[in-house]
Amino acid sequence: MTKLSTQHLLGIKDITKEDIELIFSTADNFKTVINRPIKKVPSLRDTTIANLFFENSTRTKISFELAEKRLSADVVNFSVSGSSVKKGETLIDTVNNILAMKVDMVVMRHPNAGASLFLSRHVSAKIINAGDGAHEHPTQALLDAYSIREKHGIVKGKKVVIVGDILHSRVALSNIFCLQKLGAEVMVCGPTTLVPKYISSLGVKAEFNLRKALDWCDIAIMLRIQMERQDIKYFPSLREYTMLYGINTQLLASLKKEITIMHPGPINRGIEMTSDVADSKQSIILNQVENGVAVRMAVLYLLAGRIVGGK
Ligand code: CP
Repeated sequence: MTKLSTQHLLGIKDITKEDIELIFSTADNFKTVINRPIKKVPSLRDTTIANLFFENSTRTKISFELAEKRLSADVVNFSVSGSSVKKGETLIDTVNNILAMKVDMVVMRHPNAGASLFLSRHVSAKIINAGDGAHEHPTQALLDAYSIREKHGIVKGKKVVIVGDILHSRVALSNIFCLQKLGAEVMVCGPTTLVPKYISSLGVKAEFNLRKALDWCDIAIMLRIQMERQDIKYFPSLREYTMLYGINTQLLASLKKEITIMHPGPINRGIEMTSDVADSKQSIILNQVENGVAVRMAVLYLLAGRIVGGK
């Protein structure tokens, strides 16, 4: 297989296992490229990509921009502060004005679930979802699964627990779809108020005791508590949350096996994990960030319709 089954990357739910495997094998090639002294290839020369960020981002924004530049694309960056969105312009008008300047692909982060799907139905450019509300964050899930594959050799059969604010997490939903498509077993763990009632309908186990979840898993993906999406109090205090759902070195050392620790970032050090866990040899958090560039290069390259092996 040399082409993706989709025109846009809106969510992991919409793509196949074969698409994910193609993205991974293409990312393997790009990982070699970005570790060479000359990190650039001409693959997307004459392709113009707009990065539209209607919500804050550090990792995803920089990672996409680096991926685009390593592929020699022309890049324009838009963020909502300082734009005419502040004057009342609609999403479609904003994007159509940008597309009138001959943009081929749009990478968009937006606070509303479904914003990328909406855009894909109204504009001709290829759309990549860089996170839409509490819905999906497909490139985060791809880089997470790619990092598990790199660390453990295979994703199939691995036991992965996603810990924390599952209810508000687009990373959790995309990871559940991605890991299951690749044959991993997925569990979620967190306070009952932050684990959605529909979770079992996704084929996911729920465990409310962190110790039991860690005893079960090979890999723990720790999530940030998303205060900005919480309209009510879901737990009494951050201190109590950390006591029940935070990881520290004593807890890790007391487990019978060495598990891998992951986090999509940004980390709240001292809340979801202590600093010594974040910086320990069991943590692959910075490998995730490094792999993000290669995985996003692969997604951009494949969606642009380039044939694998032809760069
Ligand atoms: N993981 C992630 O999406 O981080 P940013 O919000 O910094 O992009």
